[in-house]
Amino acid sequence: FKVTIDPSASDKGTYPYYMLKEIDEQPNVMRKLVKKYFDADGNMNVGCGLMDNILDSDRIYIVGAGTSYHAGLVGKELMEKYTGIPTEVHVSSEFAYEEPLLPKKPFFIFLTQSGETADSREVLVNVNKQHFPSLTITNVANSTLSREATYTMLLNAGPEISVASTKAYTAQIAIQAILAKAVGMRGNRQVAKDFDLGRQLGLVATGMQSIVEEKDKIDEIAKKYFVNAKQAFYIGRGVDYTVSLEAALKLKEISYVHAEGFASGELKHGTIALIEKGTPVIGIITQKKTAGLTHSNLEETAARGANALTIVRQSLAQDGDTFVIPDVDELLTPLLSVIPAQLIAYYTSLNKGLNVDRPRNLAKSVTVE
Ligand code: G6P
Repeated sequence: FKVTIDPSASDKGTYPYYMLKEIDEQPNVMRKLVKKYFDADGNMNVGCGLMDNILDSDRIYIVGAGTSYHAGLVGKELMEKYTGIPTEVHVSSEFAYEEPLLPKKPFFIFLTQSGETADSREVLVNVNKQHFPSLTITNVANSTLSREATYTMLLNAGPEISVASTKAYTAQIAIQAILAKAVGMRGNRQVAKDFDLGRQLGLVATGMQSIVEEKDKIDEIAKKYFVNAKQAFYIGRGVDYTVSLEAALKLKEISYVHAEGFASGELKHGTIALIEKGTPVIGIITQKKTAGLTHSNLEETAARGANALTIVRQSLAQDGDTFVIPDVDELLTPLLSVIPAQLIAYYTSLNKGLNVDRPRNLAKSVTVE
């Protein structure tokens, strides 16, 4: 099988690194997804067989590794809200050898940018042995997991060259939102019919554009707080917590700053002991019901010497917040809140003089277990 890559799409152009190019491409990836999956009348272009298989299932399992796993954590919230089907997310290398007790009719969604990750494939092989239906969401047509799953949905994000994944994460979340709405509508759920996703993804694209245009501000933040940091923490609640895991992973991967993502409420149950004078702690704050709590958790870290910073949604912003992102639907905020974090990691790595696209010890696609 041949995997086709359009060489013109993988030209770095005037960008110093692919990662920056790929971060900048995200608004366009969102627009392309809207074009592909919505027609002019707002009808959705998702296969009926796929939707019926999901509707027929009693539980959805989302499986992935690394950044793809993190995208799945957001996907769970979207699938449960719009389809009403209980959804679990699993790290593929764990699922492969510790398979949970499965219900009668599970449906499996594999998230994999490359479509080649051995840990995820191991799960799919077992799923196929048990004749369960599956979907691979991937950036690479004809990749192994795409060929071996029942259904495929393509990210259409263009080749992702930088080892640290950026546009694949946001495309994976957007596709899961599209799938969740389509299945929910087919299941006649009002909440799915009311979800103005096409318009929301347009707002997301515009919001992403405005964030990537503030690069200089993020470069300054990276220089001031991260380049000399030994460790950093991202905190949040709900989907903000899931973004904090991805934000910390980006920083670890390419800037070699030890970073962790934490549920805001958990920090005080142990990890706050690590906070020293100058430790950067970034709160991701986009959810109305928990914004106040995370703001006060951040103050607790500031009282212990942390440099408390925020990535906050406009309608929840307070005086002194660091980075304000535009308002979009609450479950789609990860598409915006992750971007300043991607850029913080990029500029920290760049200012440390590291090879942003080729971090030590890492591979773009890991084909061993
Ligand atoms: C590698 C990459 C990560 C990626 C993970 C899963 O570890 O370095 O960036 O998230 O594999 O890759 P996949 O292609 O399955 O999404």
